[in-house]
Amino acid sequence: MKNIQIAIDGPAGAGKSTVAKIAAEKLQYTYIDTGAMYRALTLKALRTSTDLDSEQAIADLLKDSTIELVPAENGQRVLLDGEDVSEEIRFPNISANVSKVAAHAAMRAIMVVLQHDMAARGGVVMDGRDIGTAVLPQAELKVFMSATVEERARRRFEDNNKRGIESSIEQLQQEIALRDKMDSEREASPLVQAEDAIFLDTTTLSIDEAADAILKLASERMA
Ligand code: C5P
Repeated sequence: MKNIQIAIDGPAGAGKSTVAKIAAEKLQYTYIDTGAMYRALTLKALRTSTDLDSEQAIADLLKDSTIELVPAENGQRVLLDGEDVSEEIRFPNISANVSKVAAHAAMRAIMVVLQHDMAARGGVVMDGRDIGTAVLPQAELKVFMSATVEERARRRFEDNNKRGIESSIEQLQQEIALRDKMDSEREASPLVQAEDAIFLDTTTLSIDEAADAILKLASERMA
């Protein structure tokens, strides 16, 4: 069995990270949550009152930052300049601002190099918006995961409840729809299904069913 790269893209709340994490664990691969990296940068931009609309300022901020994804017993931890920000990057103010930050091409160019290096050793499951199109265009397996916006909002709501974050389904639905629109319509590496990606609709699938579908595809590609 050869080590492969698995790229999982799709809109917010499609279940990508949960499923990617399970698949990576089963395959004993490295899991890389690229959304967490954009979230960490957004947190730093807000903390430092950096102009979120400034292409240059956001790129400079990333150059001055260290963002690390560290495997831990209770899942992956996200370190921003050495500080564990894993919980804080999920707060609503980060979700509300991350698409603005993520739209800047100059910053994305740096981010893609970082992500590409992280995946260089193979045996990786990476999730995001542009993995199959920009970060790992040579990935042996590309999956584009989606679900209806109603179902995605419901999942985020449950997720938030578990994390102790207050939210409403209606508000989450609006927030997710707006984020998808911004991510899909931006010029730099927009959210789009790669031509050679397999579409996986998870609306009626459980987490395990979605993970099994990906593991089945992976074993075909690894053979
Ligand atoms: O995956 P998650 O929802 O945490 O991603 C947060 C945001 O980060 C996305 O809405 C998008 O704006 C940005 N992102 C991106 N490219 C990626 C991963 C995430 O632009 N590869």
